[in-house]
Amino acid sequence: MSTIWTPSSWRDKPIQQVPTYPDAAVTKAVTDRLRTSPPLVFAGEARSLKKALGEVCNGNAFLLQGGDCAESFAEFHPDNIRDTFRVLLQMAVVLTYGAAMPVVKVGRLAGQFAKPRSAPTETIDGIELDSYRGDMVNGMEFTKESRTPDPERLMQVYNQSASTLNLLRALAQGGYADLHKVHKWNLDFVADSALGARYQDLADRLDETLAFMAACGVTSDTTPQIRETSFYTSHEALLLEYEEPMVREDSTTGDLYDTSAHLLWIGDRTRQPDGAHVEFMRGIGNPVGMKVGPSMDPDELIRLIDILNPENEAGRLTLISRMGADNVETMLPPLLRRVKEEGRNVVWVSDPMHGNTIKSPSGYKTRPVDAILAEVKGFFIAHRSEGTHAGGVHFEMTGQDVTECTGGAQDIGDDDLGARYHTHCDPRLNAKQALELAFLLSEMLKQNRS
Ligand code: PEP
Ligand code: CO
Repeated sequence: MSTIWTPSSWRDKPIQQVPTYPDAAVTKAVTDRLRTSPPLVFAGEARSLKKALGEVCNGNAFLLQGGDCAESFAEFHPDNIRDTFRVLLQMAVVLTYGAAMPVVKVGRLAGQFAKPRSAPTETIDGIELDSYRGDMVNGMEFTKESRTPDPERLMQVYNQSASTLNLLRALAQGGYADLHKVHKWNLDFVADSALGARYQDLADRLDETLAFMAACGVTSDTTPQIRETSFYTSHEALLLEYEEPMVREDSTTGDLYDTSAHLLWIGDRTRQPDGAHVEFMRGIGNPVGMKVGPSMDPDELIRLIDILNPENEAGRLTLISRMGADNVETMLPPLLRRVKEEGRNVVWVSDPMHGNTIKSPSGYKTRPVDAILAEVKGFFIAHRSEGTHAGGVHFEMTGQDVTECTGGAQDIGDDDLGARYHTHCDPRLNAKQALELAFLLSEMLKQNRS
């Protein structure tokens, strides 16, 4: 693309999924405040993630990305952040064993507050109001006041993301993530189950390995990788009014980075090659992701890859396949083949959540764990047949004991969904379901090795 990119050049392009703020002057006053607020992440950290993703691209590492479908103001609590973080750590340990390669950990956290919607408005009992677009935009309650987009929410998202990130940094680097604590990461409601026992067994083996390594002189003191972990943040760059003022120049390179998160991705509904979201993302220095759903064709994919990663840099672009369990084995291979034939360097990961959402007979939006697992399996089969690297997974999950997805070892049934259905958007795996999937994935990774 030949036109000059600036943090605001997206404003000249057609845009989808945007709220209409009632007063442009108020919105500008808030975004001006954001523009002068400290960056949430640093360019150097985004570059480290890009480098780690480069390793995934080259087949030497695996990406685990997960967290809420939508963070919310109501569920903001240190325990929720810690519990999601620790399930991700548990899953990473399990996957590291299976893959025998580094697992790059990225949370859908500290900024994941804006949601694309299938319709701009919602009508209940003859009253039509704006759809709920996530806490970054408006409130979920069905009243005119709550549903009217309020720019002050941008500042609240920024502040909540800053506190979340502060806790995540402390958890990752302050001793909590020390591999000697692997036993302690087991959540109470997981621990007293067959799955918990299986995890404890793996933790025992890890303890033995650590004791052996200590005897050889490799300890937390000599090797920081045992004591601390790298944990990165990501969210969908949907609300560009929030992203634009977070763009800052990196003083060491002069490049521009979106400092709202380490990795930003483009959703399946906003990836038009000529659209505003693609325009914004092409110019930032961060690693970027793009969802790839059933409507993507190979020509369009190559066109998008060339806009988003013109230098063909390994680690810059992660393609997040979300085809649905029934489609993945037919729709993914032609895309994998074409990208490989054209020599484009990308990371491929599987989002087995968004193509498998159904309405349960009881009326809840849900996802069967079996379908989620089937899509991951199909993703691995597709890569094996095309000779490409199945680079990772992208889950909607929480550390809480929710009942939002059906099935799994707990065998959550349709009638159980109402018990603890707390999501602000799509149904998430609970900690047990997430860990169970990690064990199954670990088996697949082990098979891939042999
Ligand atoms: C999401 O990741 O929450 C989402 C909306 O996904 P998609 O863009 O793939 O529909
Ligand atoms: Co979602």
